[in-house]
This record gives sequence, structure tokens and C-alpha cells, in this order.
Amino acid sequence: MLHIAHLSFASPLILAPLAGYTDLPFRLLCRRYGAGYCVSEMISCHGLVYQQKKTLEMLQSVDQEKPVSFQLFGADPAVMADAAEILASYKPDMIDVNMGCPVKKVTKNGAGAALMTTPDIAEHILTQICARISLPVTVKIRAGKDSTHINCAEFAKMAQCSGVSAIAIHGRTWAQGFSGTIDKNTLSAVKKAVTIPVIGNGDVHSFRQAHELMTETGCDGVMIGRGALGNPWVFSRGGRPSTLDGILSGAVAHLQLIEQYLPADKLLGYVKSQMCSYFKGLPGSSRMRKEIFSAENIVALKCTMAAFEKFFNTTE
Ligand SMILES: Cc1cc2nc3c(=O)[nH]c(=O)nc-3n(C[C@H](O)[C@H](O)[C@H](O)COP(=O)(O)O)c2cc1C
Repeated sequence: MLHIAHLSFASPLILAPLAGYTDLPFRLLCRRYGAGYCVSEMISCHGLVYQQKKTLEMLQSVDQEKPVSFQLFGADPAVMADAAEILASYKPDMIDVNMGCPVKKVTKNGAGAALMTTPDIAEHILTQICARISLPVTVKIRAGKDSTHINCAEFAKMAQCSGVSAIAIHGRTWAQGFSGTIDKNTLSAVKKAVTIPVIGNGDVHSFRQAHELMTETGCDGVMIGRGALGNPWVFSRGGRPSTLDGILSGAVAHLQLIEQYLPADKLLGYVKSQMCSYFKGLPGSSRMRKEIFSAENIVALKCTMAAFEKFFNTTE
């Protein structure tokens, strides 16, 4: 059981924020398979303040997915505080502040991982947000700027003093981007530095690995990102089904949620790549991929998936 501020979560395994993926349908699916809570895609503070259509569309949520955390990114403390207030009006259970994104489009404006090199600005952002909203605020950080500037432990202490209720740490540096491996020592160091809950993140691909990471580092929870794509079972003890039929039922459940909540036909390419991710590496997956990608619309895609279902049911 994981506790953050007044909230208790049935599982310490959390869906990490993934821009382009952790939309409402995928969050609902991961909650169904056991995620303690899920984090939205990163939401721009400017997009919120200027009420941009695309940004507002990202705030879609339903009670069924609760508890949910919405993630905010930006670099200007005053704008971030205004944006946090707007975000809070959409009633998530927590707000997470992105201080770990290495993507140039974000860091060139001083946001994301760049904030780990400007702790004074980061502190202003966190104190102003915490003063403005009553929801628990969390922060997601990296190990540091690069291997010679590992500052996650001091940074985490600063975040705790600024009023945040939990810290998620991705054990890579900004310079690493998504390459190399995580340094588990950075997770242990953050855990030792603060008294609030610490959530470790990076390179976890199974339920067992997640629990091992908690034991090894002392972290209170684990965030899983890429390991959940096409594999929401990562949040369940039993893991991914061993039969293609079982895997297909998860993919179909995802497709149904996408149809229920998103303009699926307008997002056909995205839906197809989501469906393919379920079959990656399995026997016959390249043929399935071809069939999925040849579907001209959602109705045709559903027929393709139904045909897979029949095929598996008759061959087992
Ligand atoms: C496609 C993609 C999108 C991501 N988007 C976000 C994001 O919006 N906010 C964030 O804090 N981290 C984001 N991340 C980083 C992940 O949350 C996570 O920290 C990282 O992928 C390491 O965890 P993993 O090995 O479990 O994927 C993203 C990563 C990927 C691969």
C-alpha cells in the first residue's frame, strides 16, 4: 500500500506520464489491471492559461479512473501557479510537476530537466504552486544534469521543504535522455534524503522487477512507463497472459476504451500502432501488424481484430 498525503493507493505501482500515450483510455485500462494511480501526459502551463483547445482536450477524465494525477510543465513560477489553479479546477487527485523531461522543445525554455540546473527557479515554482492549491503536489525529477552533476538528493530535499507530498525519480541524467541504464543508487540516495514517499522509475518491465526495485532502493513505489505499452498486465501479479487469446482480449479492451472516449477514426494511425504494440515479438506478429495497418477505418480494424480472435479460438 502506498500513501501520499491523505491518499492511499491499493498498489505501489504507478503508470508514468508518457506524452502521446497516457490518455484517458490507457489510464483506465491500466487502472483496470491494477495500477495504483496513473499520471496524465504533460500539460503545458501556457496552454492552460491561454485555454488552448488541444491542451483542454488533454484534461478529459472520468470518476472511474480516480485516483489520477495531472502533470504540469513550464518554467515561469507565476504562470505555473496560475496554471496549477486552473488544473486543480478539473479535479484531479494530485498535480505532478515535470522537472525531468529532456526533450529540447521543453528544456530550451528552461522547463523539464533544465529546472534541475536552476534549483532556485524550481523552488519558486514548487512553493508558489503548493501555496496556491490544496491538492497534494508531487514532482518528477531525474538524477541530475549529467554524471558529474548528480544533484537529485539535494534537489529532493528542496522539493520537500517547498511543500511537495512525494517525489518520483527517474534514475537517468538529463544528458542520458533515454539511453543507457538507470543508476539505482540515485533512487536510494533520494529515499535517504527525504521523509516523504519516493517513487523510483526507469527500465521496469515486470511486476516482479518493480517489487525488486522497491526492495533494493527502499523506494515506496515504482512508476512504469514504456513497460506498460502494449502490456497493461505489468501492474498485475500474474503478468502478461501466456495465450494469444488473453493478449488479444486486453488489446480489444483498449480499443473499446479508445472508441468510447476519443475520436478514434481521426486517430487511426495512433490506434493501429497501439494495437500492434500488444503483439510485438510474438509469433506471427509481423503478419498481424500488416493486417492491422491495412485497415482503412476503425470498423475494418475491429473486423481484423475479431478475425484474430476467431483464429486463436480455433487453433488452441
Ligand atoms: C514516449 C515517452 C513520453 C514521455 N512523456 C513524459 C511526460 O509527459 N512527462 C514525464 O515526466 N516523463 C515523460 N516520459 C518519461 C517517462 O515518464 C519515464 O520517466 C521514462 O520513460 C523512464 O521510465 P520507463 O523506463 O519505465 O519508461 C516519457 C517517456 C517516453 C518514452
